[in-house]
Amino acid sequence: MLEHAERERLTNALKDYMGAKRHDHSCKVATACVRLALIHAPELEDQAELAGLLHDNAKKLPVPDQLAIARERGLGVSPAEEQSPELLHGKVGALLLKRRFGIDDPEVEQAICDHVTGRVGMGLLSRLLYVADYISADRQFPGVDEIRELAQRDLEAAVFAVARGKLTSIIERGLSIEENTVALYNEYRQHARRVLWDESN
Ligand SMILES: [Fe+2]
Ligand SMILES: [Fe+2]
Repeated sequence: MLEHAERERLTNALKDYMGAKRHDHSCKVATACVRLALIHAPELEDQAELAGLLHDNAKKLPVPDQLAIARERGLGVSPAEEQSPELLHGKVGALLLKRRFGIDDPEVEQAICDHVTGRVGMGLLSRLLYVADYISADRQFPGVDEIRELAQRDLEAAVFAVARGKLTSIIERGLSIEENTVALYNEYRQHARRVLWDESN
């Protein structure tokens, strides 16, 4: 766990960048991310808490500002991000970590960068945050409890379930599909099918 004073400093600083609801979400994602870390990678506990707390810090930045920051820093903006620029808040939030919070941790940065669309070859911290953001205590949708339970048993199968859920929702809403999410789905598909299939037999 982060030291109490550090957690206080960060949760207070975060209030400057978001309303009460997203602040509550951020705290709950931090809790979910720490829980998953304690199961799958106890050595990542502190980084999991940081990543969870700060992952959405750029979410309330106006979209034109997010696009401007992304372009200014030479970040690639994919066609899907061009059409749905709110997808950028992970990448932009990662860039702002140091300036906004004085956090200089490349792994936490990468996890925040990855949390919206996912990415093939994501490291363990990124996988923890990607799943935690989807199953935090404030999330309520049919099937969330099954993914919560799966995440405790098999993190990679849960990554697949999250990618599948995000793709399904994107398709249902007629939004543009982000290639990273498709690639991530394909990366874990066989593993997840093995886990899910074996368990149903
Ligand atoms: Fe987010
Ligand atoms: Fe989030």
